[in-house]
Amino acid sequence: MKKFSVVIAGGGSTFTPGIILMLLENLKRFPLRAIKFYDNDAERQEIIAKACEIILTEKAPEIEFCYTTDPKTAFTDVDFVMAHIRVGKYPMREKDEKIPLRHGVLGQETCGPGGIAYGMRSIGGVLELVEYMEKYSPNAWMLNYSNPAAIVAEATRRLKPNAKILNICDMPIGIESRMAQIAGLKSRKEMRVRYYGLNHFGWWTQVEDLQGNDLLPVIRKHVAEHGYIPKVAGEPVEASWNDTFGKAKDVWALDPSTMPNTYLKYYLFPDYVVAHSDPHHTRANEVMEHREKNVFSACRAITSAGKSSAGHLEIDEHASYIVDLATAIAFNTQERMLLIVPNNGSIINFDPEAMVEIPCIVGSHGPEPLVMGKIPLFQKGMMSQQVAVEKLVVEAWIEKSYLKLWQAITMSKTVPSATVAKAILDDLIEVNKDYWPELK
Ligand code: NAD
Ligand code: G6P
Ligand code: MN
Repeated sequence: MKKFSVVIAGGGSTFTPGIILMLLENLKRFPLRAIKFYDNDAERQEIIAKACEIILTEKAPEIEFCYTTDPKTAFTDVDFVMAHIRVGKYPMREKDEKIPLRHGVLGQETCGPGGIAYGMRSIGGVLELVEYMEKYSPNAWMLNYSNPAAIVAEATRRLKPNAKILNICDMPIGIESRMAQIAGLKSRKEMRVRYYGLNHFGWWTQVEDLQGNDLLPVIRKHVAEHGYIPKVAGEPVEASWNDTFGKAKDVWALDPSTMPNTYLKYYLFPDYVVAHSDPHHTRANEVMEHREKNVFSACRAITSAGKSSAGHLEIDEHASYIVDLATAIAFNTQERMLLIVPNNGSIINFDPEAMVEIPCIVGSHGPEPLVMGKIPLFQKGMMSQQVAVEKLVVEAWIEKSYLKLWQAITMSKTVPSATVAKAILDDLIEVNKDYWPELK
């Protein structure tokens, strides 16, 4: 069986150790000959890499491993680029969340003005990775889950239309796991779904078991009462995420015939989100105090003891969709997966040039999107507004246009007026000087 070479871009990510453990667990179906880490922050990456090196030496010494900040070393001789960079890291996420809140607007990693600010930082970073891949390993595929995936995907559609890049998100997978649990199934893989929308902005229209039995009635009944919080608790979930899963109950009520993505809460209940936010302590603070701190201290402990048992790192089982995607391409498995792809007629009454999240059959030539048909006015209206925001952000980045970015922030359903949008924009420009193009 062929063995693959992978580079993880954003080697210093809090998710990297979990992904390494997940890759090790999946070696039978996705055999590896080499793993490389690439990051532009050598110090941060080294802490993660040294611990991963120990884990790899213990569990799979035959896999070559290296970590580097040199693009040529990183991107030469690779079959897959797994990309999860965060341009500006957590301190900039904190600003994305806190600046809008100062103006009474919600602060979120990928939604509203915060997501737009993050998009303006990410576009250049991800395009640079695509260029390195095309230069040093032109036959490779990039599996990108760097956020904000909607804006990044639109930027690659516009600027790198022929690049072998697939944009993907784990939120539908997380929600489907909860649906499976609610329906009494062992795994979401026992379900087949129809879903349409934009990234972090979509709806399920069909959820069936593999025999074709409709699971929506039982899921609907549960969500109407409890949102996506299953009766029997699974792994512990942080309070802020639990609130999001619970709030799905109210999001669902706006269209009881479908099941919503949890991220719609930010667009449909922005007042609720603001009222439940602490402007001095946002999700970025929670992550820095918990996930980031825990992952980095576990890695330091493993490195100083020289053995993996010295630190507790959790396998990212949910991230096995990355292996599903890689094997679909590598072995032409024709797996059905939700991906972010050009609409191109899949949603018949929607912009063919929008990047949409829909089921695709994935094989060695990439994704073949399935037809999702005609969508109702409510979803179409919401999606048209949001896709215009995402396109305006990418145009603002390309043209270095202040006006287009002001229009984008103004048009976000999370922002009440052009006055507020301008005030937020001016504050965001101030703190993003090192990352955004200078706007005219
Ligand atoms: P993190 O800050 O811990 O890690 C990101 C790493 O990227 C850092 O080590 C940083 O130095 C590096 N980096 C930043 N800019 C870079 C550049 N231009 N080139 C190379 N490396 C660069 O962040 P995290 O919380 O672990 O998240 C990583 C990314 O994964 C984020 O974009 C996050 O939103 C995304 N993510 C996406 C999904 C999804 O559903 N699509 C799920 C989970 C995480
Ligand atoms: C989900 C989304 C990701 C997002 C993450 C944020 O997994 O699909 O796109 O980055 O949540 O989680 P965090 O714990 O960093 O707030
Ligand atoms: Mn996501």
